[in-house]
Amino acid sequence: MAVLNGKHVLLGITGGIAAYKCAELVRGLRRAGAEVRVVMTAAAERFVTSTTLQALSGHPVRSSLWDEAAEAAMSHIELARWADLILVAPASADALARFAGGHANDLLSTLCLATEAPVHLAPAMNRVMWANAATQANVAALRGRGFRIHGPDSGEQACGETGQGRMLEPEQLIDALADNVGSWHGRHLLITAGPTYEDLDPVRFIGNRSSGKMGFAIAEAAVAKGSKVTLVAGPVMLTTPSGVHRIDVRSAAQMHDAVMAGLAGIDTFIATAAVADYRPKTVSTAKIKKFDADVVLVLERTPDILAAVSGNPMRPRHVVGFAAETENLDEYAQEKMRNKGLDAIAANVVGLSGSGFESNHNALTVFTRSGRYAIPLTTKRQAADALLDILLEKLP
Ligand code: PMT
Repeated sequence: MAVLNGKHVLLGITGGIAAYKCAELVRGLRRAGAEVRVVMTAAAERFVTSTTLQALSGHPVRSSLWDEAAEAAMSHIELARWADLILVAPASADALARFAGGHANDLLSTLCLATEAPVHLAPAMNRVMWANAATQANVAALRGRGFRIHGPDSGEQACGETGQGRMLEPEQLIDALADNVGSWHGRHLLITAGPTYEDLDPVRFIGNRSSGKMGFAIAEAAVAKGSKVTLVAGPVMLTTPSGVHRIDVRSAAQMHDAVMAGLAGIDTFIATAAVADYRPKTVSTAKIKKFDADVVLVLERTPDILAAVSGNPMRPRHVVGFAAETENLDEYAQEKMRNKGLDAIAANVVGLSGSGFESNHNALTVFTRSGRYAIPLTTKRQAADALLDILLEKLP
């Protein structure tokens, strides 16, 4: 539980009978070394008193956006920035709907909208409300936007019914938070690596100089940090790093299909592959004969795998791209990050010897939505470690 030590946890409590468990939740979080501040909705105040939570957290409890004294001490935007993570427990059906709708007309929904920290939700409600299509659609939308959902559990409910809708116990929630904070351990990464080959005929193809070394190095580094890794590799001559699940593909279309089929349960997607942007519009089944005249090839676009992952309803929590540039590195990389809706992008200069394509070495400039971080020229394996460290520290 050491990973929660010193972490700033903002506990949001919404209206539900499970709110009584929050006293134990605050105690457990503090025992794990976290600093806890509590925000309650008006409905939550009907189930548990702010006095109890103030005493247990050691900080005044906030419930209103319009509390001038509290705002003067720490404005809601500062509070949103203060949080290393937000946990909403219990998260009522109404709270899920409001978060899914992007509402900002009370303190808790505003904080969830204004924070860059991960938001964890512990739903609790009557089993029929949980099963309702509206609730399930809200949960799917929230998951797609990176909210982390823990539970609910099945069992006897306060309303006398039995079914799914019970909030997880405080210790289960604390374990779930610890698993998500500060470590690559137990996380599942999907990584693409290498070139793609786009066939012209049975003997010729359009390819590029990617060796796959950068992607394989990230896969190896992630396994060493305790992650589960699926590596979708284009045609490369590399040995699979130990512990990595490798799927071999040849073309951009095959890489696209393998990635899409593997998205379930993925925490972080890292696209290092040099995917062909174009492929021949027609592929000849027989070897194309040689003529005296010039030949004009008609090319069509391949699917953009990275953009497709980023826009997918099963979008992983973090989607990270690479940018291979020969000029204007910062500008072009940030443009790709924006256009493809990425959480981060690692840019490298290609076309020079000693880094980029084929080399065992690389230098990266990593952009997140809030910062720029340089990884000076080093081995690809060390660059991979440094990249994973930056992503761990800087991505919510
Ligand atoms: O394999 P190595 O020899 O070790 O070389 C490493 C590398 C130079 C290939 C690697 O560090 C790198 O820069 N990879 C990205 C190469 C690239 O295609 O960059 P791009 O700027 O064209 O594409 C931007 C991003 O979109 C990339 O993450 C790429 O994987 C992705 N993309 C591009 C086109 C497409 N159809 N689908 C994609 O997913």
